[in-house]
Amino acid sequence: MVRYFLLLLALVTILVVSIAGLRDYPFLSHKTKRPPIEIFPDMVRQPKVKAQAPSDFYADGRGARANLTGTVPVGYSQPTASTGVYATMGSPYDVVVFAGREGYANTGKNGTNWGNGLPFSATLATLERGHERYQIQCAVCHGATGSGNGIATKYGLVGVANLQQQRLRDMTDGEIYNTIVNGKNTMLGYGSTIQVSDRWAIVAYIRALQRSQNGSLNDVPPADRAALQDGVSASTPAKH
Ligand code: HEC
Repeated sequence: MVRYFLLLLALVTILVVSIAGLRDYPFLSHKTKRPPIEIFPDMVRQPKVKAQAPSDFYADGRGARANLTGTVPVGYSQPTASTGVYATMGSPYDVVVFAGREGYANTGKNGTNWGNGLPFSATLATLERGHERYQIQCAVCHGATGSGNGIATKYGLVGVANLQQQRLRDMTDGEIYNTIVNGKNTMLGYGSTIQVSDRWAIVAYIRALQRSQNGSLNDVPPADRAALQDGVSASTPAKH
């Protein structure tokens, strides 16, 4: 008896799910223009405007609307009067260019040549931001100090560039910026996930990394040198 009951229950369940669980009934929707009966509508139909589609919500019947005056992309604030370009919202440093795709700040190039220097003045906050972004976006391959020994290399990724090598120390900021945006050889570009100001912050941080691994006694203020030479100082540079 129980067996028949369970069998019946299973059949009924399959029947209910196969009818009620479908959001579209071929036998209905192909024969009628009316929308199908939807027991579980799955949010298929929502009161929203689709791109390029008409809408009765607006008096002129058009769904596509012009941006309101002063609209700025998500994540950006109004252009500042001084620069005429969009600054990133809440960013720790001033400028950054959103308008247009030309110019050194966007391309790393002055005319046809790679340029050097940041397009805005770097502060400690720039480096901190660059440090954070570098850790998120680059360290997995290039390693925390940029020596090309990130965790991905332990899992078999080969050929990761050592950012401490002389060639990359000598490389212009603009070309490094371009590598972040467009990649290089086997490295993919990260232009779609890192915005302009952060790319430059990363470049600044890479410079700091290169400096950190290549210090000499001359970098130490003269007053502190003697202490270092005597080996008295507690602040031995960290080795990674
Ligand atoms: C998935 C791994 C990976 C990530 C993430 C990655 N890179 Fe690379 N990168 C590489 C590899 C591999 C190369 C060597 C490419 C080649 O020359 O074949 C390279 C090369 C470079 C070079 C040297 C380019 C040259 O001209 O030789 C620079 C500079 C660089 N990366 C910067 C960055 C920065 C900055 C980030 C973070 C925004 C980053 N990379 C993220 C894998 C990565």
